[in-house]
Amino acid sequence: MACAIRPRSRTPVRGRIAALLATATFALCPTISLAATGCDDLSSIPMTWLIDYNNDIQNIFDTRCSNCHVDNPSPFADMDLSSGVSWDNIVNVPSSEQPGRFRIVPGDPLASVLFEKINCDNPDFGSRMPFGRSPLPLAEQALIYDWILLGAPSTTTDFIFSSGFEPTP
Ligand code: HEC
Repeated sequence: MACAIRPRSRTPVRGRIAALLATATFALCPTISLAATGCDDLSSIPMTWLIDYNNDIQNIFDTRCSNCHVDNPSPFADMDLSSGVSWDNIVNVPSSEQPGRFRIVPGDPLASVLFEKINCDNPDFGSRMPFGRSPLPLAEQALIYDWILLGAPSTTTDFIFSSGFEPTP
């Protein structure tokens, strides 16, 4: 069974793991329609397995997003991406702009509003992020993709190894 809309192709390993995780824990296809266009192809970027949210992901937010998504006086889209509060403000948190969608859907990057808005020129709603600036380098987009795919944990993604899971190349 294939999903109707794929904003971009994936590396074989990304695709296989996505399918595996999807069958294990999540619905195979997003239930909402993904109509974003102009999305970057990340298939040239190798999968990153070990990601530390507080370093790897927070660093991207600190460098690229925090001056707008910060509580000073109030963050754009009511979403504060500052260190220490960002995870609580995005993972399984409803979008303030798109009813029925969530900022980060663990395990499902393509359903996650935040990934769509950094990956696509024309997201379902509003503008590409960071607003009015150059898109994130592909490696940073891929890191966010992989972190979501691996469950979007608040610490590190090493659960996949501690559970004894062995990816076959
Ligand atoms: C120059 C200011 C600015 C920067 C920098 C910026 N944003 Fe935004 N962001 C906005 C504005 C304005 C909106 C609301 C309009 C829109 O969605 O296009 C928004 C909305 C969003 C939303 C939608 C939230 C929701 O609940 O639907 C997400 C997700 C988002 N931004 C992520 C990011 C990320 C990730 C970065 C850094 C890579 C970033 N933004 C950088 C101004 C900014």
